[in-house]
Amino acid sequence: MLKNTTDSYGLIARLFHWIIFVMVISIIIGGNIAADMPSGPDKSQLIGMHKSLGFTILVLVVLRLLWRFTNPRPRDLGTSRIENKLGHAMHIFLYILLLSQPTIGILMSQSFGHPVYPFDLFKVPTFVNDNIRLGKMLLEIHETLWVVLAISVGFHAAAALKHHFIEKNRTLMRMILGK
Ligand code: HEM
Ligand code: HEM
Repeated sequence: MLKNTTDSYGLIARLFHWIIFVMVISIIIGGNIAADMPSGPDKSQLIGMHKSLGFTILVLVVLRLLWRFTNPRPRDLGTSRIENKLGHAMHIFLYILLLSQPTIGILMSQSFGHPVYPFDLFKVPTFVNDNIRLGKMLLEIHETLWVVLAISVGFHAAAALKHHFIEKNRTLMRMILGK
């Protein structure tokens, strides 16, 4: 089934989840590799790929949210109301990070005077003019938010594994197989 039901994740929601998962892990690893490289053509090429991947993540997350709001949400399987509420809060927080990190990346590049050309196909509209001070501030936020994102994903994945191995419910399998 493509769409969610009240007790299953449809194929589209699962594809969004796991494709974005792979992309986010890759961009975090790639971003750190690029940051440690000496300036030169190799670094520029890797940062170019980073920007294209990050822009794609932003587009996919927006599409994923549109899909989510037009689909039923599978019912909660947590052991208590508070656990379910914490789970929802974490999901909202993850969505906020998934939207803000690439947006800040784009604004940072623009304020350093580097327009963003995803896959060399088109230019992302310019929202901020050259402003090195703003760029440095956004870079600091970009360098902090990925750590917050990585830690949050760690808690989120640990919660999913707890559901699977300790509570032995279908939370994780529902995100892998649907039901
Ligand atoms: C979910 C999306 C993104 C994640 C998780 C992410 C993550 C990262 C990470 C981990 C680094 C290395 C930071 C460090 O040195 O500590 C980095 C650097 C960087 N990111 Fe992103 N990024 C994302 C999206 C973007 C986007 C969309 C752009 C611009 C279009 C961008 C532009 C940059 C640039 C220019 C750097 C290099 C900064 C430097 O010169 O060291 N990022 N990013
Ligand atoms: C970059 C990494 C990840 C991100 C950004 C992420 C994000 C999310 C988000 C936003 C949701 C809420 C889906 C909705 O709209 O209903 C979700 C659900 C879920 N995620 Fe992840 N996730 C990541 C990695 C993982 C990993 C590694 C696992 C498993 C070990 C996992 C297991 C699950 C499960 C089981 C659900 C469904 C929870 C429920 O039904 O209440 N996720 N994830």
